[in-house]
Amino acid sequence: MKNIKNTLFSHKTVEIGLECGYDNYIMAIESSCDETACAVVKNGREVIANVVASQIKTHEKFGGVIPEIAAREHLESINVVIEETFRQAKENANIKPDDITAFAGTAGPGLVGCLLVGLNAAKTLALVYDKPFIGVNHLNAHLCANYIDTDLKPPFMALLVSGGHTQIIDVKSYAEQYILGETIDDAVGEAYDKVARLIGLSYPGGPRLDKLAQEGNPKAYKLPEGKVDGYNFSFSGLKTAVLRLVKQLKAELPAGETELPENIVKDICASFQETVSKTLAKKLRAALEEKGYQQVVIAGGVAANSEIRRKIFDFGNDGYKVFAPPMKYCTDNAAMVASCAYFNTDTFDDVDVEVFSRVK
Ligand code: KG4
Ligand code: ZN
Repeated sequence: MKNIKNTLFSHKTVEIGLECGYDNYIMAIESSCDETACAVVKNGREVIANVVASQIKTHEKFGGVIPEIAAREHLESINVVIEETFRQAKENANIKPDDITAFAGTAGPGLVGCLLVGLNAAKTLALVYDKPFIGVNHLNAHLCANYIDTDLKPPFMALLVSGGHTQIIDVKSYAEQYILGETIDDAVGEAYDKVARLIGLSYPGGPRLDKLAQEGNPKAYKLPEGKVDGYNFSFSGLKTAVLRLVKQLKAELPAGETELPENIVKDICASFQETVSKTLAKKLRAALEEKGYQQVVIAGGVAANSEIRRKIFDFGNDGYKVFAPPMKYCTDNAAMVASCAYFNTDTFDDVDVEVFSRVK
């Protein structure tokens, strides 16, 4: 539990989080990258309203997220997304703006111009309704997606895999978490997106590559696993190996042909996916065994990946309890931000908090 002061006018203290003795309804906004999202969550676990406006259609045209365009699109969507969230909250649970206990927003890491839109909207709501404001770390929020609709409680070992991060995190308690290892170069999602582009798949590359991989032979090509100590990862060597393989296979095409046949593309995808998922599962398992935890969670956009999920859910055969958010809470959303504002005490409970692009 944490005591947080209201933002501006009354300065009364509000209790938020576990054991505060009454129901908390937190409204959160997420805008760190290419989804404008708003949600209301009751007591960190029960989603009352959840709205996500995706910018995929816009960024598809450019083959990736252009920060300036993303920020403008957040500005265009934010009010509609907030209004729709309030409408759902009223319809689903008769929750009105005044019933909201606190307003939360993602402070970072992310694209600064994008973060500014959501964070300022959340701060404004806190000021207008005279409620506390809670700034949330996007990475902590991804982990908290696992609290939604479950009874998960720390301690547990976590694998966070997103477009910008790859980390193994020891979650000792709601407040205390330690990064045991992370990527020394590319994040998993980044590697997925780069390899996808290399083989000619359009944005968003990760999920498309995953789909093709499911139809290919994972043993078709032997690709190198990044060799780094402990719980750290490296994916740039693997990416370069795929680049070389694609070049070599293209050189072997009959004269006049420039595109690789579909079955070969599927085999490349499957072999890449096999290598990545094997590395992630191996290191996560080692960390889990070292700490002696019985629970393991995966989180972040790449946790939507079919093979990574399959390999980690297999830990269940050895008695581990495995948690992974449903697809809609793996990729960016605001329900996880609201849950984080409730459970995690490592938040920025101050209306003056500024956005940040990288983890400090
Ligand atoms: O967590 P997220 O939505 O945004 C960040 O905070 O980065 O993650 C986005 C990343 C992208 O790199 C996307 O390609 C990847 O998650 N991703 C996937 C899958 N679904 C999303 N990567 C592999 N397989 C998937 N099924
Ligand atoms: Zn994310």
